[in-house]
Amino acid sequence: MPAAKVRKAVFPAAGLGTRFLPATKAQPKEMLPLVDKPIIQYGVEEAIHSGITNIIIVTGRGKTAIEDHFDVSYELEHLLEIRKKTELLALVREVSDLINVAYTRQKEARGLGHAVLCAREMVADEPFTTVLADDVIDAETPCIRQLLDIYEFFCAPVLAVMEVPHESISSYGCIDAEPVSHNGSKNKVFRIRDLVEKPKPSEAPSNLAIIGRYVLTPDIFESIENIDPGAGGEIQLTDALRRLLRSRPIYAYKFDGKRYDAGDKLGFLKATVEFALRRHDLGGPFREYLKTLAL
Ligand code: UTP
Repeated sequence: MPAAKVRKAVFPAAGLGTRFLPATKAQPKEMLPLVDKPIIQYGVEEAIHSGITNIIIVTGRGKTAIEDHFDVSYELEHLLEIRKKTELLALVREVSDLINVAYTRQKEARGLGHAVLCAREMVADEPFTTVLADDVIDAETPCIRQLLDIYEFFCAPVLAVMEVPHESISSYGCIDAEPVSHNGSKNKVFRIRDLVEKPKPSEAPSNLAIIGRYVLTPDIFESIENIDPGAGGEIQLTDALRRLLRSRPIYAYKFDGKRYDAGDKLGFLKATVEFALRRHDLGGPFREYLKTLAL
């Protein structure tokens, strides 16, 4: 039987963003601009380019800016219209015109697993993708699309993974997995044996870290409901996946592309510089400016 089609993307955006304080005290980190677009818009565009236009955003306190961003701004659009700023008008409408967006609340930041559980009613009995917007991924084929291809082939949940330096693994969920041949390649797809959230480097089963893109099946919800808080006292998605492993296979995919941790100050700066250098309108003058710096 073919895998059920993935039509919905869940964006957990209710975290506290403590790594980016004080900027995130009064605004969500998902709204920090990378060059001129909020971080979350990169993730939403990735979903659109992967064929998914039903967007569910899990928000928390102080996150209304996200809702406003994807909403129609009558005043602004009217002003741009009468000033004949057609290009800017298209730019502000571009994304919101293409998506159906719905919001749900996580009343308290109890962890990523709990945030995903908050989307249960909206997801209903369907497979879905989960996107952590602060992982910005630049890839020729959108990372979500890459995962969907694996999901469709194996009819099973798929997590995005990448190799990280051994000493950094304690910042991530980590997998213990065996490679599976797929499409002539032997080191891209893995069948997961076990998962652990934020292991000590000495205890990590591999250097394969889970990155913020998942294709999940609706049985994950029951699994989340049945786990206790884990690392950091939070309900961890990794722990729920570990439980789900008892009843079904789960795969990991070493995606093609470059990932930036835009929820972290240094990662955000790296993304800003690289994205700005690639822009047609800004790249040239920005490069010239950088050359003048005595580095
Ligand atoms: P992070 O750990 O990267 O986000 O969670 P955080 O907790 O906001 O940030 P720091 O570590 O304090 O700086 C990964 C994703 O899960 C969401 C976050 O919004 C982020 O997109 N999340 C996390 C929730 O929606 N709810 C939570 O309770 C925790």
